[in-house]
Amino acid sequence: MAIIENSKLTVVGAGSVGSSVAYAALIRGSARHVALYDIATEKVEAEVLDLAHGTQFTGSSDITGGSDLSVVEGSHVVVITAGAKQRPGQTRMELADVNAQIIRTMMPQLLDAAPNAVFVIVTNPCDVLTVIAQQATGLPPERIFASGTVLDTSRLRWQLAQRAGVSTSSVHAHIVGEHGDTEFPLWSNASIGTVPILDWSSPPHPPLTLEELGSIAVDVRDAAYKVIQGKGATNYAIGLSSARIVEAILRDEHAVMPVSTVLRDFHGIDGIALSVPSIVSATGAVPVRNTPFSEDELTLLRRSADALAAAVAELR
Ligand code: 2OP
Repeated sequence: MAIIENSKLTVVGAGSVGSSVAYAALIRGSARHVALYDIATEKVEAEVLDLAHGTQFTGSSDITGGSDLSVVEGSHVVVITAGAKQRPGQTRMELADVNAQIIRTMMPQLLDAAPNAVFVIVTNPCDVLTVIAQQATGLPPERIFASGTVLDTSRLRWQLAQRAGVSTSSVHAHIVGEHGDTEFPLWSNASIGTVPILDWSSPPHPPLTLEELGSIAVDVRDAAYKVIQGKGATNYAIGLSSARIVEAILRDEHAVMPVSTVLRDFHGIDGIALSVPSIVSATGAVPVRNTPFSEDELTLLRRSADALAAAVAELR
């Protein structure tokens, strides 16, 4: 797809996630101008140099950045990755206190620098931090949302695609809820092509069973723990999925994606951010209110909302 003229993406945080978002955005041509901002001057300048050195091999996007807030000025989209990262064995929720402080301090400054931007929170726990960021800025919920379960959904589609013998893009299934331990798949509406998930078979691939679907959901939920155990962080897949969200915004796509906005009376959930299929466009993200849920799925959605509400209430 064509790059949008003069579109500017700023990625806040030059750690492995932020640098990977910038790298993915450059390679995919997600924005005409990509900027990287971090308070650690030497680190951010080095990441920008390294990315810039590769621009002969990318498209027409450019990369700049540094530790001055002016880097953020003029952004149409700001992706926030700054904060403490998960260590092996740690849950995303265990980062809540320290990262909430960072978000509370940083958000007003970022909004001052880019008053018209759409903000995407990637820092974990991203659902909890979206509530904090929305409160700290007073922005309407559509303009400040989390990457949520877009990545988990990609993990789910990859697993199902492998098992069913089809391409990932032919799997239609979503993970919703918390980006974390209470997330779950919307199996009631999952399909491969147009075939309901449990009816699919394509020799030599036998039909999927309920037990298998259950174990795939657990694998997806725990996927990040496995990657972090092995390499200390997850970065490539979150980089790609964040770049994809940025494109939906900058190209005003109205693409349906499971991002996490602060919900207003969504099946009784109010003031809590979690992922449900949402329309992502230049003005931000709006939940699809008539997304079908089975009774069991609604119970799981409320359980996820309760866990997130407890985490927000416990913040110092
Ligand atoms: C991930 O799911 C850790 O939230 C990060 O890859």
